[in-house]
Amino acid sequence: MHRRALLQWLAASPVLTLPGALRAAMDPGLGKPSDALDVFDFERAASQIVPPAHWGYLQSGVDGDVTRDANHTAYSKWKLVPRRFVDVSKIDMATTVLGTAMASPIMTSPIGGLRALHVEADIGVARATKAKQQNQIVSTQMSDVLEDIIAARGAPVWFQLYTTNKLEATRAMVQRAQRAGCPVVCVTVDLPAGRNTVTANRLRRNDTRVCGNCHQTDANGNPRQGLSTKPMFTGLDTNGLGLTSPSLNWDFIKRLKDMTSMKVVIKGIEAEEDAQLAVENGADGILVSNHGGRALESGRGTIESLPGVVKGAAGRIPVMVDGGIRRGTDAFKALALGASAVGIGRPYAWGLSCFGAAGVERVLDILNMELRLAMVGCGARNVREIKASSLVAA
Ligand code: GLV
Repeated sequence: MHRRALLQWLAASPVLTLPGALRAAMDPGLGKPSDALDVFDFERAASQIVPPAHWGYLQSGVDGDVTRDANHTAYSKWKLVPRRFVDVSKIDMATTVLGTAMASPIMTSPIGGLRALHVEADIGVARATKAKQQNQIVSTQMSDVLEDIIAARGAPVWFQLYTTNKLEATRAMVQRAQRAGCPVVCVTVDLPAGRNTVTANRLRRNDTRVCGNCHQTDANGNPRQGLSTKPMFTGLDTNGLGLTSPSLNWDFIKRLKDMTSMKVVIKGIEAEEDAQLAVENGADGILVSNHGGRALESGRGTIESLPGVVKGAAGRIPVMVDGGIRRGTDAFKALALGASAVGIGRPYAWGLSCFGAAGVERVLDILNMELRLAMVGCGARNVREIKASSLVAA
Protein backbone atom coordinates (compact mmCIF):
# COMPACT_ATOMS: atom_id res chain seq x y z
CA MET A 1 0.00 0.00 0.00
CA HIS A 2 2.83 2.36 0.88
CA ARG A 3 4.59 1.64 -2.40
CA ARG A 4 1.41 2.41 -4.31
CA ALA A 5 0.83 5.60 -2.31
CA LEU A 6 4.39 6.70 -3.08
CA LEU A 7 3.93 5.97 -6.77
CA GLN A 8 0.68 7.91 -6.80
CA TRP A 9 2.36 10.82 -5.10
CA LEU A 10 5.17 10.73 -7.66
CA ALA A 11 2.65 10.56 -10.48
CA ALA A 12 0.90 13.66 -9.18
CA SER A 13 4.03 15.64 -8.64
CA PRO A 14 4.14 18.69 -10.88
CA VAL A 15 7.94 18.47 -11.06
CA LEU A 16 8.24 14.91 -12.32
CA THR A 17 7.37 13.27 -15.59
CA LEU A 18 7.20 9.56 -14.98
CA PRO A 19 8.90 7.15 -17.33
CA GLY A 20 6.58 4.64 -18.94
CA ALA A 21 8.00 1.78 -16.90
CA LEU A 22 7.03 3.45 -13.64
CA ARG A 23 3.55 4.14 -14.98
CA ALA A 24 3.31 0.53 -16.04
CA ALA A 25 4.15 -0.50 -12.47
CA MET A 26 1.17 1.52 -11.30
CA ASP A 27 -1.21 0.28 -13.91
CA PRO A 28 -0.09 -2.90 -15.62
CA GLY A 29 -2.87 -2.45 -18.18
CA LEU A 30 -1.55 0.82 -19.57
CA GLY A 31 2.23 0.84 -19.73
CA LYS A 32 2.35 2.90 -22.91
CA PRO A 33 -0.13 5.07 -24.83
CA SER A 34 -0.79 2.46 -27.51
CA ASP A 35 -2.05 0.04 -24.83
CA ALA A 36 -5.22 2.16 -24.66
CA LEU A 37 -7.87 0.89 -27.06
CA ASP A 38 -10.44 3.57 -26.37
CA VAL A 39 -10.58 6.78 -24.36
CA PHE A 40 -12.18 4.99 -21.42
CA ASP A 41 -8.95 3.01 -20.93
CA PHE A 42 -7.27 6.36 -20.31
CA GLU A 43 -10.06 7.40 -17.94
CA ARG A 44 -9.57 4.25 -15.84
CA ALA A 45 -5.79 4.61 -15.78
CA ALA A 46 -5.94 8.33 -15.00
CA SER A 47 -8.34 7.70 -12.11
CA GLN A 48 -5.63 5.54 -10.53
CA ILE A 49 -2.82 8.05 -10.74
CA VAL A 50 -4.35 11.52 -10.48
CA PRO A 51 -4.70 12.55 -6.82
CA PRO A 52 -8.29 12.67 -5.54
CA ALA A 53 -8.64 16.47 -5.29
CA HIS A 54 -7.35 16.96 -8.83
CA TRP A 55 -9.41 14.07 -10.16
CA GLY A 56 -12.50 15.55 -8.55
CA TYR A 57 -11.79 18.89 -10.22
CA LEU A 58 -11.58 17.23 -13.63
CA GLN A 59 -14.50 14.83 -13.34
CA SER A 60 -16.95 17.02 -11.48
CA GLY A 61 -20.23 18.17 -12.89
CA VAL A 62 -22.63 20.11 -10.67
CA ASP A 63 -25.09 18.89 -8.02
CA GLY A 64 -25.63 15.23 -8.94
CA ASP A 65 -23.60 15.32 -12.21
CA VAL A 66 -26.78 14.71 -14.22
CA THR A 67 -25.99 17.19 -17.01
CA ARG A 68 -22.42 15.91 -17.20
CA ASP A 69 -23.64 12.36 -17.76
CA ALA A 70 -26.42 13.44 -20.15
CA ASN A 71 -23.76 14.91 -22.43
CA HIS A 72 -22.51 11.45 -23.29
CA THR A 73 -25.60 9.28 -22.92
CA ALA A 74 -27.63 11.56 -25.21
CA TYR A 75 -25.48 10.41 -28.12
CA SER A 76 -27.11 6.97 -27.92
CA LYS A 77 -30.44 8.55 -28.98
CA TRP A 78 -29.22 8.47 -32.57
CA LYS A 79 -28.13 5.44 -34.61
CA LEU A 80 -26.10 5.43 -37.80
CA VAL A 81 -27.46 4.44 -41.19
CA PRO A 82 -24.83 2.63 -43.26
CA ARG A 83 -24.57 3.16 -47.02
CA ARG A 84 -23.17 0.68 -49.54
CA PHE A 85 -21.09 0.85 -52.70
CA VAL A 86 -19.70 4.31 -52.15
CA ASP A 87 -16.01 4.48 -53.02
CA VAL A 88 -14.59 5.09 -49.55
CA SER A 89 -11.01 4.20 -50.44
CA LYS A 90 -10.02 7.80 -49.67
CA ILE A 91 -11.41 9.58 -46.62
CA ASP A 92 -10.58 13.24 -46.11
CA MET A 93 -11.23 14.48 -42.59
CA ALA A 94 -9.73 17.95 -43.11
CA THR A 95 -11.88 21.02 -42.67
CA THR A 96 -11.57 24.76 -42.19
CA VAL A 97 -13.56 26.74 -39.63
CA LEU A 98 -13.37 30.54 -39.38
CA GLY A 99 -10.20 30.48 -41.46
CA THR A 100 -8.45 27.85 -39.33
CA ALA A 101 -7.48 24.73 -41.25
CA MET A 102 -7.55 21.47 -39.30
CA ALA A 103 -6.67 17.93 -40.33
CA SER A 104 -9.66 16.63 -38.37
CA PRO A 105 -12.84 18.37 -37.15
CA ILE A 106 -12.02 17.24 -33.58
CA MET A 107 -10.57 20.13 -31.54
CA THR A 108 -9.34 20.24 -27.95
CA SER A 109 -11.72 22.35 -25.86
CA PRO A 110 -10.34 24.57 -23.09
CA ILE A 111 -9.55 23.12 -19.66
CA GLY A 112 -7.96 25.27 -16.98
CA GLY A 113 -5.26 24.14 -14.58
CA LEU A 114 -3.92 21.27 -16.70
CA ARG A 115 -0.72 21.17 -14.64
CA ALA A 116 -2.80 19.63 -11.84
CA LEU A 117 -2.92 16.56 -14.11
CA HIS A 118 0.51 16.41 -15.71
CA VAL A 119 3.63 18.53 -15.75
CA GLU A 120 3.44 18.93 -19.54
CA ALA A 121 0.11 20.78 -19.23
CA ASP A 122 -0.96 23.07 -22.11
CA ILE A 123 2.38 22.75 -23.86
CA GLY A 124 1.95 18.96 -23.90
CA VAL A 125 -1.45 19.43 -25.52
CA ALA A 126 0.14 21.85 -28.00
CA ARG A 127 2.75 19.28 -29.00
CA ALA A 128 0.01 16.74 -29.61
CA THR A 129 -2.26 19.08 -31.59
CA LYS A 130 0.79 20.16 -33.60
CA ALA A 131 1.64 16.53 -34.38
CA LYS A 132 -1.94 15.83 -35.49
CA GLN A 133 -2.56 19.27 -37.04
CA GLN A 134 -5.74 19.66 -34.99
CA ASN A 135 -7.14 22.83 -33.50
CA GLN A 136 -6.56 23.73 -29.86
CA ILE A 137 -8.60 26.12 -27.72
CA VAL A 138 -6.72 27.25 -24.61
CA SER A 139 -8.37 28.32 -21.37
CA THR A 140 -8.09 31.75 -19.73
CA GLN A 141 -6.99 29.65 -16.77
CA MET A 142 -4.19 27.95 -18.71
CA SER A 143 -1.25 26.63 -16.70
CA ASP A 144 1.38 27.64 -19.24
CA VAL A 145 2.10 31.02 -20.80
CA LEU A 146 0.01 31.72 -23.90
CA GLU A 147 2.96 32.80 -26.04
CA ASP A 148 4.93 29.67 -25.03
CA ILE A 149 1.99 27.43 -25.94
CA ILE A 150 1.77 29.02 -29.37
CA ALA A 151 5.54 28.68 -29.82
CA ALA A 152 5.38 24.97 -28.88
CA ARG A 153 2.55 24.42 -31.32
CA GLY A 154 4.20 26.44 -34.07
CA ALA A 155 0.76 27.77 -34.99
CA PRO A 156 -1.90 29.92 -33.35
CA VAL A 157 -4.44 28.57 -30.90
CA TRP A 158 -7.96 29.81 -30.25
CA PHE A 159 -8.25 31.71 -26.97
CA GLN A 160 -11.11 31.00 -24.55
CA LEU A 161 -12.07 34.10 -22.63
CA TYR A 162 -13.87 34.52 -19.36
CA THR A 163 -15.72 37.81 -19.48
CA THR A 164 -14.39 38.84 -16.03
CA ASN A 165 -16.20 41.56 -14.09
CA LYS A 166 -13.80 44.34 -15.15
CA LEU A 167 -13.75 45.46 -18.74
CA GLU A 168 -10.16 46.74 -18.53
CA ALA A 169 -8.85 43.32 -17.47
CA THR A 170 -10.87 41.66 -20.22
CA ARG A 171 -9.52 44.12 -22.77
CA ALA A 172 -5.93 43.51 -21.65
CA MET A 173 -6.29 39.75 -22.08
CA VAL A 174 -8.06 40.08 -25.41
CA GLN A 175 -5.36 42.41 -26.73
CA ARG A 176 -2.65 40.07 -25.51
CA ALA A 177 -4.29 37.09 -27.23
CA GLN A 178 -4.59 39.10 -30.44
CA ARG A 179 -0.93 40.20 -30.26
CA ALA A 180 0.05 36.57 -29.67
CA GLY A 181 -1.61 35.70 -32.98
CA CYS A 182 -4.86 34.03 -31.86
CA PRO A 183 -7.33 34.30 -34.75
CA VAL A 184 -10.41 33.47 -32.66
CA VAL A 185 -11.63 34.32 -29.16
CA CYS A 186 -14.22 31.95 -27.66
CA VAL A 187 -16.08 33.80 -24.95
CA THR A 188 -17.62 31.60 -22.28
CA VAL A 189 -21.13 32.73 -21.31
CA ASP A 190 -22.52 29.72 -19.47
CA LEU A 191 -21.39 30.50 -15.92
CA PRO A 192 -22.92 33.84 -14.97
CA ALA A 193 -23.09 33.40 -11.21
CA GLY A 194 -21.58 30.39 -9.55
CA ARG A 195 -22.20 26.66 -9.40
CA ASN A 196 -22.27 23.75 -6.97
CA THR A 197 -19.47 21.30 -7.80
CA VAL A 198 -20.37 18.53 -5.35
CA THR A 199 -18.07 15.85 -6.78
CA ALA A 200 -15.07 18.18 -6.74
CA ASN A 201 -15.76 19.22 -3.15
CA ARG A 202 -16.34 15.65 -2.01
CA LEU A 203 -13.12 14.31 -3.53
CA ARG A 204 -11.14 17.24 -2.15
CA ARG A 205 -12.27 16.20 1.33
CA ASN A 206 -10.99 12.69 0.67
CA ASP A 207 -7.55 13.93 -0.25
CA THR A 208 -5.22 13.56 2.67
CA ARG A 209 -2.11 15.00 1.03
CA VAL A 210 -0.57 18.20 2.31
CA CYS A 211 -1.37 20.89 -0.28
CA GLY A 212 1.66 22.92 0.83
CA ASN A 213 3.99 20.25 -0.57
CA CYS A 214 3.13 21.40 -4.09
CA HIS A 215 1.09 24.62 -3.82
CA GLN A 216 1.48 28.00 -2.28
CA THR A 217 -1.07 27.89 0.54
CA ASP A 218 -3.07 30.35 2.58
CA ALA A 219 -3.08 30.59 6.37
CA ASN A 220 -5.43 27.57 6.56
CA GLY A 221 -3.18 25.38 4.44
CA ASN A 222 -5.51 25.55 1.42
CA PRO A 223 -4.01 26.14 -2.05
CA ARG A 224 -3.91 29.78 -3.13
CA GLN A 225 -6.02 29.65 -6.26
CA GLY A 226 -6.43 33.36 -6.83
CA LEU A 227 -6.31 34.68 -10.36
CA SER A 228 -2.93 36.29 -9.64
CA THR A 229 -1.43 32.78 -9.66
CA LYS A 230 -2.53 32.16 -13.29
CA PRO A 231 -0.17 33.13 -16.12
CA MET A 232 -2.86 34.93 -18.14
CA PHE A 233 -3.36 37.41 -15.28
CA THR A 234 0.30 38.36 -14.91
CA GLY A 235 0.62 42.13 -14.77
CA LEU A 236 -3.12 42.68 -14.24
CA ASP A 237 -4.66 44.12 -11.11
CA THR A 238 -6.51 41.10 -9.72
CA ASN A 239 -7.94 42.90 -6.68
CA GLY A 240 -11.69 42.33 -6.80
CA LEU A 241 -11.36 40.70 -10.20
CA GLY A 242 -13.75 37.81 -10.88
CA LEU A 243 -13.82 35.48 -13.87
CA THR A 244 -17.46 36.21 -14.62
CA SER A 245 -20.10 38.83 -13.99
CA PRO A 246 -23.82 38.19 -13.47
CA SER A 247 -24.80 41.61 -14.81
CA LEU A 248 -23.61 41.21 -18.40
CA ASN A 249 -26.04 41.31 -21.31
CA TRP A 250 -25.75 41.08 -25.09
CA ASP A 251 -24.03 44.49 -25.17
CA PHE A 252 -20.92 42.67 -24.01
CA ILE A 253 -20.60 40.97 -27.39
CA LYS A 254 -20.71 44.33 -29.17
CA ARG A 255 -18.03 45.65 -26.81
CA LEU A 256 -15.90 42.59 -27.38
CA LYS A 257 -16.24 42.97 -31.14
CA ASP A 258 -15.16 46.60 -30.76
CA MET A 259 -12.04 45.68 -28.82
CA THR A 260 -10.64 43.08 -31.21
CA SER A 261 -10.29 42.02 -34.79
CA MET A 262 -10.26 38.37 -33.71
CA LYS A 263 -13.33 36.40 -34.72
CA VAL A 264 -15.74 36.08 -31.77
CA VAL A 265 -17.21 32.66 -30.99
CA ILE A 266 -19.79 32.51 -28.21
CA LYS A 267 -19.21 29.39 -26.12
CA GLY A 268 -22.15 28.17 -24.08
CA ILE A 269 -25.18 28.81 -26.30
CA GLU A 270 -27.88 26.11 -25.93
CA ALA A 271 -31.17 27.74 -26.97
CA GLU A 272 -32.43 28.46 -30.48
CA GLU A 273 -33.42 32.01 -29.45
CA ASP A 274 -29.93 32.69 -28.11
CA ALA A 275 -28.45 31.45 -31.38
CA GLN A 276 -30.56 34.04 -33.24
CA LEU A 277 -29.48 36.72 -30.77
CA ALA A 278 -25.85 35.69 -31.13
CA VAL A 279 -26.05 36.26 -34.88
CA GLU A 280 -27.92 39.56 -34.45
CA ASN A 281 -25.31 40.77 -31.99
CA GLY A 282 -22.44 40.09 -34.34
CA ALA A 283 -21.03 36.73 -33.22
CA ASP A 284 -18.84 35.04 -35.83
CA GLY A 285 -19.50 31.55 -34.51
CA ILE A 286 -21.17 29.52 -31.77
CA LEU A 287 -19.81 26.71 -29.65
CA VAL A 288 -22.75 24.80 -28.17
CA SER A 289 -21.52 23.91 -24.70
CA ASN A 290 -22.73 23.46 -21.15
CA HIS A 291 -19.24 23.69 -19.72
CA GLY A 292 -18.87 19.91 -19.60
CA GLY A 293 -21.99 19.75 -17.44
CA ARG A 294 -20.28 22.03 -14.92
CA ALA A 295 -22.74 24.93 -14.99
CA LEU A 296 -26.48 24.16 -14.84
CA GLU A 297 -27.86 20.88 -13.47
CA SER A 298 -30.68 18.97 -15.13
CA GLY A 299 -29.76 20.32 -18.54
CA ARG A 300 -29.93 18.58 -21.88
CA GLY A 301 -26.92 16.90 -23.39
CA THR A 302 -25.32 19.37 -25.78
CA ILE A 303 -26.05 17.10 -28.74
CA GLU A 304 -29.76 17.56 -27.93
CA SER A 305 -29.35 21.34 -27.94
CA LEU A 306 -27.38 21.37 -31.19
CA PRO A 307 -30.25 21.07 -33.71
CA GLY A 308 -32.11 24.06 -32.24
CA VAL A 309 -28.97 26.17 -32.23
CA VAL A 310 -28.18 25.18 -35.82
CA LYS A 311 -31.73 26.24 -36.73
CA GLY A 312 -31.34 29.57 -34.92
CA ALA A 313 -28.01 30.28 -36.62
CA ALA A 314 -29.62 29.36 -39.97
CA GLY A 315 -26.31 28.85 -41.78
CA ARG A 316 -25.20 32.44 -41.14
CA ILE A 317 -22.32 31.49 -38.82
CA PRO A 318 -20.63 28.15 -38.04
CA VAL A 319 -21.89 26.17 -35.06
CA MET A 320 -19.62 23.83 -33.12
CA VAL A 321 -20.34 21.62 -30.13
CA ASP A 322 -18.53 20.09 -27.18
CA GLY A 323 -19.54 17.92 -24.22
CA GLY A 324 -19.71 14.16 -23.89
CA ILE A 325 -17.84 13.15 -27.04
CA ARG A 326 -16.15 9.88 -26.17
CA ARG A 327 -16.27 8.07 -29.51
CA GLY A 328 -15.62 8.95 -33.12
CA THR A 329 -19.25 8.01 -33.76
CA ASP A 330 -20.29 10.78 -31.32
CA ALA A 331 -18.26 13.26 -33.35
CA PHE A 332 -19.85 11.90 -36.53
CA LYS A 333 -23.36 12.39 -35.11
CA ALA A 334 -22.59 15.97 -34.10
CA LEU A 335 -21.25 16.73 -37.58
CA ALA A 336 -24.32 15.07 -39.13
CA LEU A 337 -26.57 17.31 -37.01
CA GLY A 338 -24.90 20.42 -38.38
CA ALA A 339 -21.76 21.04 -36.33
CA SER A 340 -18.79 22.39 -38.31
CA ALA A 341 -16.34 20.96 -35.77
CA VAL A 342 -16.47 19.35 -32.33
CA GLY A 343 -14.51 19.81 -29.11
CA ILE A 344 -13.30 17.16 -26.70
CA GLY A 345 -12.42 17.94 -23.09
CA ARG A 346 -11.98 15.27 -20.44
CA PRO A 347 -10.74 12.56 -22.88
CA TYR A 348 -7.61 14.49 -23.81
CA ALA A 349 -7.12 15.41 -20.16
CA TRP A 350 -7.16 11.68 -19.30
CA GLY A 351 -4.54 11.02 -21.98
CA LEU A 352 -2.46 13.93 -20.71
CA SER A 353 -2.73 12.68 -17.12
CA CYS A 354 -1.31 9.30 -18.10
CA PHE A 355 1.42 10.12 -20.59
CA GLY A 356 1.64 13.86 -21.24
CA ALA A 357 1.71 14.84 -24.93
CA ALA A 358 2.00 11.21 -26.04
CA GLY A 359 -1.25 10.38 -24.25
CA VAL A 360 -3.06 13.28 -25.90
CA GLU A 361 -1.76 12.15 -29.29
CA ARG A 362 -3.09 8.66 -28.67
CA VAL A 363 -6.51 10.02 -27.67
CA LEU A 364 -6.64 12.04 -30.88
CA ASP A 365 -5.52 9.00 -32.90
CA ILE A 366 -8.23 6.81 -31.37
CA LEU A 367 -11.03 9.32 -31.94
CA ASN A 368 -9.83 10.12 -35.46
CA MET A 369 -9.68 6.42 -36.29
CA GLU A 370 -13.20 5.87 -34.94
CA LEU A 371 -14.52 8.90 -36.83
CA ARG A 372 -12.90 7.67 -40.03
CA LEU A 373 -14.56 4.27 -39.62
CA ALA A 374 -17.96 5.93 -39.08
CA MET A 375 -17.41 7.94 -42.27
CA VAL A 376 -16.45 4.79 -44.18
CA GLY A 377 -19.51 2.93 -42.88
CA CYS A 378 -21.90 5.75 -43.77
CA GLY A 379 -20.32 6.53 -47.13
CA ALA A 380 -19.15 10.04 -46.25
CA ARG A 381 -15.86 10.66 -48.04
CA ASN A 382 -15.26 14.04 -46.48
CA VAL A 383 -16.67 16.20 -43.72
CA ARG A 384 -19.12 17.95 -46.07
CA GLU A 385 -20.65 14.59 -46.97
CA ILE A 386 -21.54 13.84 -43.34
CA LYS A 387 -25.29 14.47 -43.50
CA ALA A 388 -28.34 14.22 -41.23
CA SER A 389 -29.62 11.41 -43.46
CA SER A 390 -26.93 9.20 -41.88
CA LEU A 391 -28.83 9.32 -38.56
CA VAL A 392 -32.09 7.89 -37.29
CA ALA A 393 -33.57 8.49 -33.87
CA ALA A 394 -33.13 5.37 -31.75
C1 GLV B 1 -13.31 25.85 -15.44
O1 GLV B 1 -13.64 26.30 -16.50
C2 GLV B 1 -14.02 24.86 -14.72
O2 GLV B 1 -15.06 24.39 -15.18
O3 GLV B 1 -13.57 24.49 -13.63
